[in-house]
Amino acid sequence: MVDILIINGPNLNLLGTREADIYGKQTLKELNQSLSKLAGKLKLKLKFFQSNSEGALIDFLHKEGSKAGGIIINPAALTHYSYALRDAIAAIGTETVEVHISNIFAREEFRQKSVISPVCSGHISGFGFYGYALALSYFADVSKEK
Ligand code: DQA
Repeated sequence: MVDILIINGPNLNLLGTREADIYGKQTLKELNQSLSKLAGKLKLKLKFFQSNSEGALIDFLHKEGSKAGGIIINPAALTHYSYALRDAIAAIGTETVEVHISNIFAREEFRQKSVISPVCSGHISGFGFYGYALALSYFADVSKEK
């Protein structure tokens, strides 16, 4: 079974209460539960990780990234400035899809740039929690082709 990493960056542990008008009322736990259900149907195995620390996210990628069949990452605010996270994704070489709950291109100017996108095969932004499910469906299809 293909292993997919679901990685969430800083402040996404606060989903459900954090700026609910932008990020919705569902919690990270609820998101992960719905992704687990979908993964069961798609015959994918998920490993979840959330951290508020850039270093912990990079350490997790080093430990688990190259063994995984794919990575779905919402780097949160690190999207906009973390060259270290970008280099970690580039270094491990596992196909990665960047996901954002909100449409970052319709928000403040500083959010409209992603330093992570150039090292990802795709970017999904603005579809709420569906973005993670879309990325998961993508990995289910491409892993069948391999
Ligand atoms: C976010 C967008 C980022 O700009 C922000 O810092 C987040 C969440 C999103 O999912 O829409 O924390 O990545």
